[in-house]
Amino acid sequence: MDIFVIQGGKRLSGTVRVSGAKNAVLPLMAASLLADGPVEIAGAPRLRDIATFGKVLGHMGAEVERIDAGGDGRETVRIDPRKVELAEAPYDLVKTMRASVLVLGPLAARHGKARISLPGGCAIGARPIDQHLKGLELLGARTTLAEGYVEVDAAQLKGATIYFDMKTVTGTENLMMAATLAKGTTLLKNAAREPEVCDLARALRAMGADIEGEGTDEIAVRGVPSLRGVRHEVIGDRIEASTLLLVGAITGGDVTVAGADPSAMDAVLTKIEESGARISVEGGEVRVRRDGPIRSVNFETSPYPGFPTDVQAQFMAYLCLGDGFGIVRETIFENRFMHVAELRRMGAKIDVSGSTAAVKGVPSLSGAPLMATDLRASASLVLAGLAAKGTTEVLRIYHLDRGYESLEDKLSSLGAQIARVKE
Ligand code: EPZ
Repeated sequence: MDIFVIQGGKRLSGTVRVSGAKNAVLPLMAASLLADGPVEIAGAPRLRDIATFGKVLGHMGAEVERIDAGGDGRETVRIDPRKVELAEAPYDLVKTMRASVLVLGPLAARHGKARISLPGGCAIGARPIDQHLKGLELLGARTTLAEGYVEVDAAQLKGATIYFDMKTVTGTENLMMAATLAKGTTLLKNAAREPEVCDLARALRAMGADIEGEGTDEIAVRGVPSLRGVRHEVIGDRIEASTLLLVGAITGGDVTVAGADPSAMDAVLTKIEESGARISVEGGEVRVRRDGPIRSVNFETSPYPGFPTDVQAQFMAYLCLGDGFGIVRETIFENRFMHVAELRRMGAKIDVSGSTAAVKGVPSLSGAPLMATDLRASASLVLAGLAAKGTTEVLRIYHLDRGYESLEDKLSSLGAQIARVKE
C-alpha cells in the first residue's frame, strides 16, 4: 500500500486547478441508466470510486469506457446503457462503493426492478438508506430486504409527494432520478440543495427530464416517457478546492485555486477569512493568503449552504495551529472525528465530547507516522503534515485516492515536499 512522505514547514504558493467533482460524477453515472442512448461525462477525474462505480455499471451490462475526447488532457467517461440487462449490484462491488445505492432509483424507473447489496456502514457512520426506500415506496415500488440485499419491484412508478425526514444528498438524487420516468408529478420536499444535486438536475434536463426547483428545499419533477443520452461537463470539486485553499492558509502561503465555483464555497471562505487569512475572488478563481497568526474560530457542519461536513476534518487540522480555542461541531455523521487521534500524535490539543471537539491551538505540530482512516480524515493529516516541523508519513493513502486525483502532484506544484512511496 502506498504512503505519502511529507517534509513540512514550507510556505506553499502558486495556482492549482481542481478536478471534476467526484460527488457530481457518481450520480451522473447512475443517471446514464435512465437513458436510451450513451451518456458522456466530461471532466471526470481519475479516482478509485469512479472506476469502481464503472465496474458496478459494467456488471449490469452497460458499456463503460474512458475516452480522451476533449484533447485538453481532461477525460470523459462514456456509458452506453443500452445493453443493461442485470439490474443488480453485488456485495463484493458495493462494499467498497456505497454510492452504488444511486442505481436504485434509475433501475426502478427504467427496468421496473433492482437488487443491490445493502451498502453497510462505513468508517464515518451507519449511513442508512431508509429515506431512499421510503421515497421509492411512495412512488409505488415494493421494497424488500433479504440476505443483505434490498430488492425493489416497480411495474410503473407514479408521481408522489415525498418529504425527507432529513436533508439527504444521495436520497434526493436517487428519488429525483426515479421521478423523471414516473407517471405524473413528484414533489421532493426538504430536498438537499448541494451543487452536485443541481448539476445532476441540469444533466437530467438536458436528457429531456422536466425538473424545476433544484437548489431549493422543494424540487418538482414531471415524469416523461423517456430520456435521451447527453454529453455533460461536470462541475469542479468544491471540496477539493476548499482543501487546497486550506493548504495555502495552514502553511501561511499564497495559493490560488481554479476550477470550482467560488459561490459554492461561501461557508468555508467566510470561516477562512474569520481566521485572519485573506481571501480574494478574481475571475472565478479563489486566492488565499496568510501572513499573520491563525485566529481560532468555531464552526459546525450542516447541510448546504452550511459548512460542509466533508471539509470538517481539514479545517480542524488548520485550527490545531490557532491562537486560542476553536470549537468544532459535527452534526451530519456520528463518527467523523477519527482524524483527532492522529492529529494528537503530532502534538495537537483536542478534546472530544460527543459530536463536539474543542481544539486548543499550539505553536507548532511535529511530523509523525500517521494512519489514514477515511477519505477526508486523510486529507486532514496531509494538511497537518505540510504545516508540521519535520517528516510526516501518511499510511493507507488508498483512502485519499478515492477522492483526490494526483494530490501529490497538485501539492508539489505549490512547492510542497511530498512523495508517494510504495510500502
Ligand atoms: C453524500 O453522502 C456525499 N457522498 C458525502 O460525501 C457527504 O459527506 C454527504 O453527502 C453529506 O454532505 C456522495 O455524494 C457520493 P446523506 P450521503 O444522505 O448522500 C442520514 C465524501 O467524503 N441519512 O446526505 O450518503 C445519514 O446517516 C462523502 O465525499 C439517513 O439517516 O449522505 C447522515 O447522517 C462522505 N437515512 C445524514 O442523513 C437516509 O436514508 C446525511 O447523509 C439517508 C441519510
